[in-house]
Amino acid sequence: MPAQPDNSAVPAIEVRDLVKTYGGITAVSRVNFAVARGEIVGFLGPNGAGKSTTMRILTGCMPATSGYAAVCGLSVAAQSEEVKRRIGYMPENNPLPEDMRVSEYLHYRGRLKEISRKKLGPRLDEVLERCDLKRVRHRIIGTLSKGYRQRVGIAECILAEPPVIIMDEPTIGLDPRQILIVRDLIASLRGRMAVVISSHILPEIEMTCDRVLIINQGRIVAQGTPDQLRRDLLGGARYELELAGPDAGLATLLAGIEPTLKISAAHAPGDDGFRRLTLTTTSTTELGEPLWRALTAGGGRRLRGLTRIRPSLEEVFLAATGQNWDAERKAS
Ligand SMILES: Nc1ncnc2c1ncn2[C@@H]1O[C@H](COP(=O)(O)OP(=O)(O)OP(=O)(O)O)[C@@H](O)[C@H]1O
Ligand SMILES: [Mg+2]
Repeated sequence: MPAQPDNSAVPAIEVRDLVKTYGGITAVSRVNFAVARGEIVGFLGPNGAGKSTTMRILTGCMPATSGYAAVCGLSVAAQSEEVKRRIGYMPENNPLPEDMRVSEYLHYRGRLKEISRKKLGPRLDEVLERCDLKRVRHRIIGTLSKGYRQRVGIAECILAEPPVIIMDEPTIGLDPRQILIVRDLIASLRGRMAVVISSHILPEIEMTCDRVLIINQGRIVAQGTPDQLRRDLLGGARYELELAGPDAGLATLLAGIEPTLKISAAHAPGDDGFRRLTLTTTSTTELGEPLWRALTAGGGRRLRGLTRIRPSLEEVFLAATGQNWDAERKAS
């Protein structure tokens, strides 16, 4: 008997030892991961990391060289038609028919997805509304701006309310306002559909996704929530403060709060006597309050700013891959 396809205990996506080689190039190298129902997961990785290849395999568009991939408990290789019914997919570059009208195209896709005629009308209205496409519903797709075309791609993805959505760089080429709209749209799917998106935009992945898979050279080099990744890969914490007063005794005072707490950078004082200091520690214990208390307890010191710095996902990426994100982007 085949696996129960819509049993909610079965993960939305399961990938085991997935490998894809193109001729001599290994694009995906023994990749393992799972995505829970309703979870939003981000694929993060530089150009050529294997993100699109993994997505194409999951959607049944391309066979794997070896390994196992399943969607809702159904093998992608053995039950690809069943799998396609459960996935909304927006491929890289979002190819769309240039000469169709928006509503005509979505109607056609809806029928292909076997949405009944009766349900399709109201569902189209709903999706056009959610993707902010009502104004352009009668426009020819070829005349639409990039942002609108992206939204048509997203509308097509969610149309049949599949349990799994896979979008390859859904916000590429969008302006900041449209990125916000798309981000909100993706967030609104949380809990209802499992969503996998790929992106080069680190803050976007951070803001949208419950969990991140960092992919590099065909391998998953780290995975977890952004905060877990920070903790696991970077450890410790950094604090930035604006402090006036004497230097004497400061290092001892900091060591008294936490033995590994040290000044790692200090700016020259401004005209008002305050200077910016960066403190680092290998401890993950929250030190904000003890720092505040110790630095405002007299000794001629005055404190007017104290912030715990959250390392950026760029730093996490660097730690996971040993590469600089910008260098990767510039090289590509
Ligand atoms: N059809 C193909 N034939 C040969 N090699 C391919 C093909 N498609 C992808 N590759 C290679 O596989 C590797 C992974 O490519 P893939 O497109 O999956 O990366 P990606 O992470 O999506 O990158 P990007 O961020 O640029 O979209 C790259 O080395 C790429 O050159
Ligand atoms: Mg790609």
